[in-house]
Amino acid sequence: MICMDQRTPSPPLYETLAAGVTTLIDNGLLRPGMRARSVRAFAAQHGVSLTTAVQAYRLLEDRGVLEARPKSGFYVTQRSHRQRELPTASQPPQRASTVAVSNPVFSVLSYAGDPSYAPLGCAIPSAGLLAAERLDRHLARCARVHGRHYNIYADPHGDAELRGQISARALRLGHAVPPEGVLITNGCTEALNIALSVTTRPGDTVAIESPTYFGLLQVLEARGLRALELPTDPTSGVDVKALDKALGKRRVAACLLASSFNNPLGSRIDDARKVAIIRVLTRYRVPLIEDDIYGDISFGDDRPRPFAAISPTADIILCSSFSKTIAPGYRIGWLAANRRHDEILAAKFALSLSGAALPQKAMADFLKSGGYDAHLRRIRKVFADNIDRMRRVVDRSFPRDTRMTDPKGGFVLWLELPDGFDSDTLYQRAIRERICFVPGGLFTAGRGYRNCLRLSCSHDWDARVERSVARLGELAHELLA
Ligand SMILES: Cc1ncc(COP(=O)(O)O)c(C=O)c1O
Repeated sequence: MICMDQRTPSPPLYETLAAGVTTLIDNGLLRPGMRARSVRAFAAQHGVSLTTAVQAYRLLEDRGVLEARPKSGFYVTQRSHRQRELPTASQPPQRASTVAVSNPVFSVLSYAGDPSYAPLGCAIPSAGLLAAERLDRHLARCARVHGRHYNIYADPHGDAELRGQISARALRLGHAVPPEGVLITNGCTEALNIALSVTTRPGDTVAIESPTYFGLLQVLEARGLRALELPTDPTSGVDVKALDKALGKRRVAACLLASSFNNPLGSRIDDARKVAIIRVLTRYRVPLIEDDIYGDISFGDDRPRPFAAISPTADIILCSSFSKTIAPGYRIGWLAANRRHDEILAAKFALSLSGAALPQKAMADFLKSGGYDAHLRRIRKVFADNIDRMRRVVDRSFPRDTRMTDPKGGFVLWLELPDGFDSDTLYQRAIRERICFVPGGLFTAGRGYRNCLRLSCSHDWDARVERSVARLGELAHELLA
C-alpha cells in the first residue's frame, strides 16, 4: 500500500546528477579507475551551473564513488560496493537453547552510550536527527497548560488521544485496530514483555529469527524462556519451510519476528511470505508477536505492512514504539492485540501500573500537529544516505571477502567476514582506539556469528564516523593477516 503523504519529495538537482553518475558506474559504462569528466565539462553536458556540478562531484566524493587526484581531476574509485556479496542465510542449530547474553550486552552498552567512543555501536538515532526540540516544545506547553491534571496515576491503557493517533496511523496501513485495542507501554521493550507474559510460561520455547536483536534475547533470558533460532535470509527473512519443520518437531509457545527491517540483518519479509508464515503458525496454534519498531524507516515509497494488517483475524500481538523515529527517551511504545485483552491489561498493571502521562500527552499533540510524516521523510533519507556511505567505506576498507547486507530500511549494517575471523578480538582492539560496534556473537543465544559484526548508521555522518569505519577495516585486515 502506498501512502501518498509518505512519498519522498524530489531531491535537489545535484543529487539527481550524482545518482546519474552512480548509475553509469553500476552499469559498467564508467569503470573503476577511469577518469570522470572535468567539472566544467560535466556542467556544460548537463546545462547546469558550475556550483551545481561541484556539489554533485563533492557528494560523489563523500560517498566514495569518485576520488579527487591533485592536479588530475576526478576518478572512479577502485571498487563499487555492489560487487560485495550478501551474508549467507543463517543455519542455526535446530534445538532450543537457554539464553545468557546479559553480561556481554551490558559491557557493550556501557561503551555504546559513551560519546567519547565513535558511535557505531548503539542503534539509537542521535537527538539532532530526531524531532527532539519540537517534541520538547509540546511537552513544555502540556506541562504549562495541564501540569497538575497529569500528575496522577494515568489510565493504564494510556492517553486516549495518543491511542487514537496510533489507531489512525495503523488504519492507513490497512490494520484496523480501534483506539481501545491499543495499549500504551514503556517502549517496545515493555510491549514485548507483556506479549511474552500472556503467551508463555518460564521454561517455554520461543521461535525467533537468527541473528536477532540482543535486547530481545535479554528479555527471553529474564523471563526464563528458551530460544529456538530459525534459519533467516538477509534479504527475505525467516525460512518458512524451516519454521514449519521446527514447529512439527516440538512445542513452541510463541514466535517472535520483526515485521520489517529486522535488527541486525535489515531483511524485509514480503506480503506473500508473511501470509505463508501466518498460515504455518495458525496450523500449529502458535501466536505471533511482531516487533514493528523499524517499519516506519523504509527507504522506498511503500511502508511495509505489519503481519497484523495482512492477517487481521490471526493470533498476533503487534509491538512497536517511537524510539527509533521520534524519541527513545520518552519511552513511548504500544501493543495491539485482537484477543487476551484482560490478561494484557493485568500484565501491564503488574509491570508498571501505568505510563508517564505528560510525555504521552506531548506525543499525542506532536502527532496531531501533523509533522510526523514530513519528519519521517527527512530521517528516512538521512538513514538511507548513511547506509550508502557506510557501505562504500566498508567496501573500500574491509578485507575482500567481507560480505555485507544491503538493507532497504532501518539503520544497521551486518558484516560477515571469513570463517575463523574473531569479531570479539576486533572489538577489544577497537575499544582501545575508542571505536564501538557490536560483535556478532551478541545476536544469538548459541555460539554463532563470531565472524560477524553490526555497525550502526544512526548518527550524523561525519569525518569521525568515516575514519572509524575505515580504521575497523584496517584492523580487520591485520587480524586476518
Ligand atoms: C528490534 C528492536 N526492538 C525493540 C527495541 C527496543 O525498543 P524500545 O526502546 O522502544 O524499548 C529495539 C532497540 O534497539 C530494537 O532494535
